Amino acid sequence: MAAPVRWFVMLCAWGLALTAVPCLAADAPDSVAVLVTYHSLSGSTEKMARAVAEGAKTVPGARIALKRVGEVTGPDLFSSDAVIVGSPVYWSNMSGEVKTFFDNWQFKFGVFPEFKMRNKVGAAFATGGQVSGGKEVTMLTILAAMLGNQMIVVSGGGAFGASATTEGDSPGIDDKELAEARDLGRRVAEVAAIIKRGARK
Ligand SMILES: Cc1cc2nc3c(=O)[nH]c(=O)nc-3n(C[C@H](O)[C@H](O)[C@H](O)COP(=O)(O)O)c2cc1C
Repeated sequence: MAAPVRWFVMLCAWGLALTAVPCLAADAPDSVAVLVTYHSLSGSTEKMARAVAEGAKTVPGARIALKRVGEVTGPDLFSSDAVIVGSPVYWSNMSGEVKTFFDNWQFKFGVFPEFKMRNKVGAAFATGGQVSGGKEVTMLTILAAMLGNQMIVVSGGGAFGASATTEGDSPGIDDKELAEARDLGRRVAEVAAIIKRGARK
């Protein structure tokens, strides 16, 4: 290669290296904390919770905590950028444990009047014995509790979150339902990263 051409190639390479470094830094993945929490007596909702966590983990920079609702502390809640809550359907609604978890946001953790969960991302998942036994109502009541706390609720998997049918003719949680759960986790972590990035501007 002739000397002038060699110099030109070297300068281009230097220029590229110098401009690429800040570009990469600016695109570095945001770190987001995602709390996946659930109630489960016979293991179905827990299985979905694990799949939700797996999906969230696929997003670069996402840190995941997986806990039963009764084990969640105030610092767990307040240090999270996103909270995904799962419940079995009990009488067409969230189970008492999950409702108590939300009540404890005030009684134990004092979220009000400052709205300490404001602008965090929220989402829901559910398992129910029957096909039409209340899974969507259960997810919507979870989302309603989050809306009341001024959270930003999102879906993923299905229209209102991820859900699975576990009894009757159902052979239990199938691969499609687990894929929905992973989809929900991934979407929540992605949206949390977008919001965090936007808030920094
Ligand atoms: C007290 C109770 C009430 C239930 N009510 C409903 C119901 O209204 N609709 C439904 O589809 N399933 C109902 N189920 C079934 C559970 O939602 C279902 O088995 C669920 O997948 C259990 O989740 P888990 O294995 O995580 O405990 C009920 C179960 C219990 C124990």
